[in-house]
Amino acid sequence: MDARPPLSLPRTVALVGLMGAGKSAIGKRLALRLGLPFVDADDEIERAAGCSIAEIFEKYGEADFRAGERRVISRLLDEPPHVLSTGGGAYIDPDTRDLMRTKAVTVWLRAELDVLYDRVRKRAHRPLLRNGDPKEVLARLMSQRYPIYAEADVIVDSTAQPADRTTDQVIEALRAHLQPEKTPA
Ligand code: S3P
Repeated sequence: MDARPPLSLPRTVALVGLMGAGKSAIGKRLALRLGLPFVDADDEIERAAGCSIAEIFEKYGEADFRAGERRVISRLLDEPPHVLSTGGGAYIDPDTRDLMRTKAVTVWLRAELDVLYDRVRKRAHRPLLRNGDPKEVLARLMSQRYPIYAEADVIVDSTAQPADRTTDQVIEALRAHLQPEKTPA
């Protein structure tokens, strides 16, 4: 039994990381555990645009997608605290990253290539993974993006272990970040 008081979040928790890192799976569990709403930024972008992310990329290109993503995330970060899953490129965009830095607690779900690939390979809806061999695309994105995700407030490894276990680790890491004086070393 954990006798400590429940973790209370002063700000939205924004999950960042590559496609397949588990942002939605862990985010939903985290929201339940913290008693907060769960919001998926990609779903909100699709709702606002009235079409799928693949269609936005196809019709308008990535730059327009990023602008829409920035607007939607900016709006969501003005809402009361919640758990927010963001698309893999959101934190890479400098303006969106600044917004998240000021208005959210950011958690990078860091995963190895094989874990990411195993999770994304069964699904074909991600436009960036259609540009070539998905494993090579992921490897390239890892080398470009990992140094930037590393600026997140909290970093937790997302492995092949059950999602509930990773969620426990996110909660512990958030506790250490938000209440360091109350967390035993
Ligand atoms: C993207 C990741 C996707 C989605 C879009 C672009 C990226 O979200 O936002 O296809 O740039 O990494 P997920 O990380 O939820 O798959």
